Amino acid sequence: QEQMKSLGRQIDYAPKQVHVIGAGVMGGDIAAWCAMQGFQVTIQDQKTEAIGRVIKAAHTLYKSKLKARIAINGAMDRLIPDPHGHGLKRADIVIEAIFEDVQVKQDLLRDIEPKLPEHALIATNTSSIPLEKLATALNKPQRLVGLHFFNPVAKMPLVEIVHGQQTSEESVNQAGSFTKSIRKLPLPVASKPGFLVNRVLMPYLMEAVTLADEGIPLKVIDDEAVKFGMPMGPIELADTVGLDICLKVAEILSESMEIQVPEALRTLVNKGNLGKKSGQGFYTFKKGKPVKPK
Ligand code: NAI
Repeated sequence: QEQMKSLGRQIDYAPKQVHVIGAGVMGGDIAAWCAMQGFQVTIQDQKTEAIGRVIKAAHTLYKSKLKARIAINGAMDRLIPDPHGHGLKRADIVIEAIFEDVQVKQDLLRDIEPKLPEHALIATNTSSIPLEKLATALNKPQRLVGLHFFNPVAKMPLVEIVHGQQTSEESVNQAGSFTKSIRKLPLPVASKPGFLVNRVLMPYLMEAVTLADEGIPLKVIDDEAVKFGMPMGPIELADTVGLDICLKVAEILSESMEIQVPEALRTLVNKGNLGKKSGQGFYTFKKGKPVKPK
């Protein structure tokens, strides 16, 4: 609690330039959100078409949230496609949201560190990889911090601020301050499996997947009783998060707590049925919406 109070107190931290790497489900939404909050944002991905999708989705978001043409155009101007990562050299904060894979993330961190200004904060959106493992790729591991956003970014106020063993207090404070400046709620957590939210959420999602595997109809699992007043039920949420991400997080959690990882989940992921992002998971998605049986 003390740490939460002190988060963001630092007043001399005023980042302007945000560089996001990974224009997928999360990186795209994070970049769009930061540009809407007034930051200059460069967005990088190894696939240019992914960046194109982000720009299109951002326009849709801004039309629904901002309404005035001048505000929409302003936000669009601040969101800059940057396939080759030119924005790295002037970034005040870089947010990594690429594949959930230790090696891939380490390679990226090793590659970008020398390109960044000395003062830049390095943030990772990892859901399950201990920060200590990623920090081994850096010369200055004290500036690596977790900024764990939730999906969908535009609707979820919370951001977990993850501190690894080597993360400096200054980096944690800067991350908290940045999170507040993009109008999100920072929650400091240690770099332990599942951090805080996924530790509570994953057993619920895995149990729902097991029910589906046992033949309980999706509409029963995802109906009002099981979603406890939340915006969507557990199966739709798992599909929205991405079944590959759920599998990774659940597997990591299963090493330290009682949690069953259903075979049905592995089978779907192995088939490439990853949920909303691939168009097929437990539900079939049409125009980003699940087709629900009547
Ligand atoms: P995704 O698979 O939708 O997007 C990843 C993007 O990174 C892809 O567009 C890919 O082309 C790009 N990429 C991969 N390697 C790259 C590289 N070396 N350089 C540049 N671009 C590269 O993944 P998603 O779901 O957005 O997850 C990203 C991160 O966010 C993961 O660490 C995940 O654990 C975390 N996360 C995911 C949440 C979710 O609900 N999906 C929620 C919170 C965190």
